[in-house]
Amino acid sequence: MRTPLVAGNWKMNGTRASVAALTQGVAAGVAGLEGVEVLVCPPYVYLAEVAAAIGTAPVRLGAQDLYTAAGGAYTGEISAAMLVDSGCAYVIVGHSERRALLGETDGTIARKFMAAQENNLIPILCVGETLDERQADSTLAVIGSQFNAVADAVGIEAFSQAVVAYEPVWAIGTGETASPEQAQEVHAALRAMAAKRSAKIAADLRLLYGGSVKAGNAAELFAMPDIDGGLIGGASLDADEFLAICRAAAV
Ligand code: 13P
Repeated sequence: MRTPLVAGNWKMNGTRASVAALTQGVAAGVAGLEGVEVLVCPPYVYLAEVAAAIGTAPVRLGAQDLYTAAGGAYTGEISAAMLVDSGCAYVIVGHSERRALLGETDGTIARKFMAAQENNLIPILCVGETLDERQADSTLAVIGSQFNAVADAVGIEAFSQAVVAYEPVWAIGTGETASPEQAQEVHAALRAMAAKRSAKIAADLRLLYGGSVKAGNAAELFAMPDIDGGLIGGASLDADEFLAICRAAAV
C-alpha cells in the first residue's frame, strides 16, 4: 500500500518569525493525524530552525533543491550531506520553476536525483507540461521524456526510494487546477511508464499532484486511484489550510 504524502513547498517565502509560526501550527496540528505522511520544505536558511521547531512531531523535513557535488569550491551551493546534517529526509528536484528560470536540464536533474540518493535523501522528482504543450496535445510526450530521461540515467530500481510529482506548469500558482480526471490521466500514464520498467516498483511508487491544490479541491484529487498525495505551494503557507489538505489525503 502507498502511504499518501502531502508536501508543502514553501518556495522563497517567509521570515524567521513567520516560518516559526507556520512550523508550530503544522507541528501542533498533525498530532493524532494518521494515514498520511506530512512534509515541509522551507528555504535552506530556515531548515535547521524548522527542524528544531518540529521536534518530535510527525512532520518530515525536506529541501527545495541541492547541488550535485559532495563539497568544495561551489560558492553559494548546498550539498546533499548538508541537507541531511540539517535534518532533511527529502529533497525536491527538477521543479518547473528551476527548469524554466534557472535552466535546469533533465541531465542536471538526474545528477541531483543521484546525489540525493547517495546521501539517503528521498528525491521528489517534478515533471509537468506548459500550457502550450498541453494545447499542442503533447502532455504525455513531455511527461514521458522528463521521466524517462531520469529513469534511463538512474535506473528504475532507484524509484523504490523516490517520489514523482506531476505539476502542470499552467496550474502552478494560477488558481487553475487540473481536473481530477486530467490529473489522473497523467498519473496513470506515469505509472504505466514506470511499469514498463518494473511492475513492482511502479505499483509502490508515490505520485503526487501539484498545482493550485487547496483545502477545497484536495479531496476530489486525492480520491483518484493514482494520486497519492500532493505537492502544495501557496496553500502550504497557511497552517490551517495545509492541515486541511493533509486530512483530505489521510487514509
Ligand atoms: P501552488 O500550489 O502555489 O500552485 O504551487 C504548486 C507547486 O509548485 C508546488 O511545488
